[in-house]
This record gives sequence, structure tokens and C-alpha cells, in this order.
Amino acid sequence: MSFSRSDAAARRAPSAGKPAARLGDVISPITGGRVPRHVAIIMDGNGRWATQRGLPRAAGHRAGTENIRRIIERFADHGVEYLTLYAFSTENWSRPEPEVRALIRLLSRFIKRELDHFRRNNIRLRLLGHIETLPDWLQRQVREAVEATAENTGLNLNVCFSYGGRDDIVTAVRRIVEAGLRPEEITEETVASFLSTAGIPDPDLIIRTAGEQRISNFLLWESAYAELYFTDTYWPDFGREDIDIALAEYGRRKRKFGGLLEEDLRALGSA
Ligand code: FPP
Repeated sequence: MSFSRSDAAARRAPSAGKPAARLGDVISPITGGRVPRHVAIIMDGNGRWATQRGLPRAAGHRAGTENIRRIIERFADHGVEYLTLYAFSTENWSRPEPEVRALIRLLSRFIKRELDHFRRNNIRLRLLGHIETLPDWLQRQVREAVEATAENTGLNLNVCFSYGGRDDIVTAVRRIVEAGLRPEEITEETVASFLSTAGIPDPDLIIRTAGEQRISNFLLWESAYAELYFTDTYWPDFGREDIDIALAEYGRRKRKFGGLLEEDLRALGSA
């Protein structure tokens, strides 16, 4: 398992005149050598997973939270640098109070259980969203965990909690107005720099589990050219093999960003 490209380079030992293979190199043929730098995930289907087993919905959220460690490891093995997880949206506040409370408690449990793992594996944790809407004790816990991993240089793990894409854009616009910028000073880069994702590259691949095919207010600005991947698998069951399949599919996509590919241009030239 490797959590940082630079660490991997440092660890390479000469062997028969060739650098030793790292896991990312071994599994990269799955992706055709094209690995998304940033993967974002809508972790859907916890409720259905639980209902199918005759369990309360909160048990599905617990299983979904426990799944996070194994998926972090697999994405890191592939060389993915940024992983963004949609854990709780601004709209999720409208769910029944016990479910909201269960999700808030899970955020705390997640941090408590995983912080040591983040430290040991060079993972940097960020929380995106309205942290100030959380209870004071949890805000403190979140801030301490974010600070404790701030210098880590391996995988960047972003957890979106009390996050909404439209809300993030509105918040950015308010801050731009407060900063007194003139209209002609405002570019796409300016807007991006006021979003909660400032400094984080746009997602290359957005995965949604559990069969729904929509974005649900996730990374609205940042997803402009993301590749979308949908799978029927419920989030608690989404594992290593599902990741490999999603990344293999990404490797086959042709990304044009509104332009044309070299091969298209060549074909035009020879037409
Ligand atoms: C959607 O499933 C999932 C959520 C609203 C929350 C996702 C949260 C987790 C995986 C756990 C919390 C994570 C952290 C980091 C604390 P759903 O409840 O809408 O499922 P359903 O569509 O089957 O009902």
C-alpha cells in the first residue's frame, strides 16, 4: 500500500537495473495507465443495505462508515491523490432527528477511530461544509483532527459534512462581495479561490453508488468536466473490485474538456 507518489519514488530500490515496482505500477494496467488525480464519491445506499438485512438505517450508516478505510487504501494503492466523500448534505438536515443524530455521532466516531491511521499513513484530512452547524464539542474534535494531519503529504481525504454545492457557491459570492472585489476583477479562478475546495484540483471522476444517477448538489462548480460513474452496488458493499472496475472504466473514457483530442485533430488534418 502506498499513500504518496513521492514516498513511493523515495522507496524505490534498484533491482536488476530497474526500479522496484510499487503497487500502483502493478495495478495501473487496469486503468490503462490513466489514473484520476481526484475521485469524489456520493456514498449512497446505506439505508437500503440495512433494510435488506432487516436492520435499522443507522446500522447501514455504520457499515458505510466502516467501509471508508478499505476504499481509502485501494484508491491510494492506485495512486489517487485526492478523495472526496459526500457524508452529509445541507439537505440531509431534513431527515428524521434520530438519523441526523446518528450521522453526527458517526462523524465523531470516524475521526476517533481513524485519526491514528491517518497519522501513520500520511493522510491529510479536511472537512468541507458548515462545520459551525455542528455541536461545539464536535467542532473542536474536527479542528484538532484537521490540524493534526495538516502537514501530511500523502492522500488528501476530504469529508463533506453539512455541505451543499449551491450553498458553497452562495457563500463564495458573499465572501467576494465582502472582500470588495470589482466586477471586472472576478474570473473563474477568483470564484474557485473562494469555494471551500480552494486549492484542491477539480474532481476527475465522480462515483455514485446504489443505482441513482444524479449529482444531488455535490461539487456543482467543480464537477464541470468530471467523468461520472454509476453503479448499482450499495455503498457498504462497494469494495476493492468495484474500485478497480470504476477506474478501468475511467481509463477508457476520452476526456476532451470541450476541445478535440489529438487523434481527432490528426484525422481532420488528413481528411
Ligand atoms: C446515503 O444513503 C448516504 C448518506 C446520506 C450518508 C453517507 C454517510 C456515510 C457513509 C456515513 C457517514 C460518514 C462519515 C465520514 C461520518 P441513504 O441513507 O440515502 O441510503 P438509501 O438511499 O438506501 O436510503
